Amino acid sequence: MALSEILNRQPGKSTVAFFLVILVSIAAITRWINVSIMTGPLQKKFLLRGTSQTYSSEFDCSLNCSDISPLNSTDNKEPSESCPEYFKWIHEDLKPWKVTGITKEMVEKAKERAHLNIVIMNRRMYIRKFKEAFQTRDTVTIWGILQLLRFYPGKLPDLDLMFECGDVPKIRKHDYARSNASYPPPPMFHYCGDDSSFDIVFPDWSFWGWPELNIKPWGILKKDLQEGNGRIKWSDREPYAYWKGNARVSTVRHELVKCNASEWNARIDQVDWGHEIKHGFETADLASQCTHRYKIYAEGVAWSVSEKYILACDSMSLMINPRYYDFYTRSLLPTIHYWPINEKDKCKSIKFAVEWGNKHMNEAQEIGKRGSKYVQEQLKMKFVYDYMFHSLTEYSNLLKYKPTVPKGAVEVCSETMVCSVEGSMKKLRIDSMVKNPADSSPCTMPSSYYPAELEDFLEMKENLTKQVRTLEESERIGIPTMKI
Ligand SMILES: *[C@@H]1O[C@H](CO)[C@@H](O)[C@H](O)[C@H]1NC(C)=O
Ligand SMILES: *[C@@H]1O[C@H](CO)[C@@H](O)[C@H](O)[C@H]1NC(C)=O
Ligand SMILES: *[C@@H]1O[C@H](CO)[C@@H](O)[C@H](O)[C@H]1NC(C)=O
Ligand SMILES: *[C@@H]1O[C@H](CO)[C@@H](O)[C@H](O)[C@H]1NC(C)=O
Ligand SMILES: *[C@@H]1O[C@H](CO)[C@@H](O)[C@H](O)[C@H]1NC(C)=O
Repeated sequence: MALSEILNRQPGKSTVAFFLVILVSIAAITRWINVSIMTGPLQKKFLLRGTSQTYSSEFDCSLNCSDISPLNSTDNKEPSESCPEYFKWIHEDLKPWKVTGITKEMVEKAKERAHLNIVIMNRRMYIRKFKEAFQTRDTVTIWGILQLLRFYPGKLPDLDLMFECGDVPKIRKHDYARSNASYPPPPMFHYCGDDSSFDIVFPDWSFWGWPELNIKPWGILKKDLQEGNGRIKWSDREPYAYWKGNARVSTVRHELVKCNASEWNARIDQVDWGHEIKHGFETADLASQCTHRYKIYAEGVAWSVSEKYILACDSMSLMINPRYYDFYTRSLLPTIHYWPINEKDKCKSIKFAVEWGNKHMNEAQEIGKRGSKYVQEQLKMKFVYDYMFHSLTEYSNLLKYKPTVPKGAVEVCSETMVCSVEGSMKKLRIDSMVKNPADSSPCTMPSSYYPAELEDFLEMKENLTKQVRTLEESERIGIPTMKI
């Protein structure tokens, strides 16, 4: 496996469309990046400029990672804050190894299904790649962890982990039952989990942008969405439920298309990515999609990165029973942050939700606002990095061995990853690059749930959903008590 193989993969045919986008935004980029291309391909240098706090790294593209010294740790000026509630799930995800710890054998066992092996040693990061991932997920995931190293320089412990870049969770509880000699399971980091898997949930690539779909890094898009929300007041928004996406990828979405009629108060739009690529993604602009009072969330093959974009709209989110969870979604509550839709009777359930909301506009608006506030505040990039930091640190505390750089591993670093790409990919990397170390330390981790506390939490979640089902059945447009 060559370094170039990991780093040089570009988004095929969409490159041309991206090029147009770049031309338009070049003025904005040149404000703070000075691209000076000198003679010869190995002499490319560019400078990131900014305030005195900014890393004023000059990237000399003729250097390889081993020539570049890793960043030194910095003092944090600000006191640290408490982590959001959803960080408690880090403890839950790592529970299977709490007693035994994590041995080298357990990690190696995950290898056969992993896409990547990621090793951090003395502030440097090394990669082994075992198989191809879809599009550039693996590369962007590596990029994200490298940005964590810039955000908290010198703070990450040495570690050795396996990463799975597919859609569905891979470590099934069924195969590693507690009673079975196969327990504990091989530890595997992945973008999502469900109730029947042991995958350790970790932020997906979309937080650093999705180049193939022209989706911006979350830190930037989050601001666009917040601004977009100001454009149309909730009460002036279309009074029905809206969904837009690729309906071909799952049964839930396929069935959702059948609810596309005014009698169900829903409007469903298929995205034709081929068309979007040809037309510069003009109709897929997420920040201009906050024009409906209700937005539907439907899972794709597994979790969908769209959940945060939907929640951020200030519209009441109608969630069709999600089966998979993302790292931040397990603390979301029905009737508080979103409205639960009955998967078994989707169209009717959506129709009811819209009727309910149009009758109780204040309550519906509140649910929409709380959902947006959750992703705007609790899912700011600082907390995304904090989650990664704590998840990796807690994981490394469980390691029973001292990680070493495995044979065949290649060192990766931000500098060469920027140098190795061109065009829109380069813009995206520069846009999503951490420009300053964090002002404060990582947030303070909450303690783990007491078993009874976790049970209560799950029961409350179920109770809240049940209240809505009861209203639906009686077709009463009453108000659920919404007590927590
Ligand atoms: C990095 O470059 C130096 C020379 O600048 C060279 O000696 C070294 O072998 C290179 N390392 C790798 C891993 O390519
Ligand atoms: C880190 O500190 C050492 C010693 O003070 C220095 O030699 C090195 O250049 C520093 N590294 C960076 C990236 O600033
Ligand atoms: C134990 O796990 C293996 C897979 O590792 C599975 O094939 C077997 O059926 C399990 N046995 C029991 C008793 O669950
Ligand atoms: C939903 O209905 C609208 C209006 O009739 C139509 O334009 C659109 O193509 C339909 N969507 C799907 C996915 O069939
Ligand atoms: C859930 O509802 C049941 C039945 O109404 C009630 O007894 C229980 O206390 C509720 N649990 C929580 C955690 O609210």
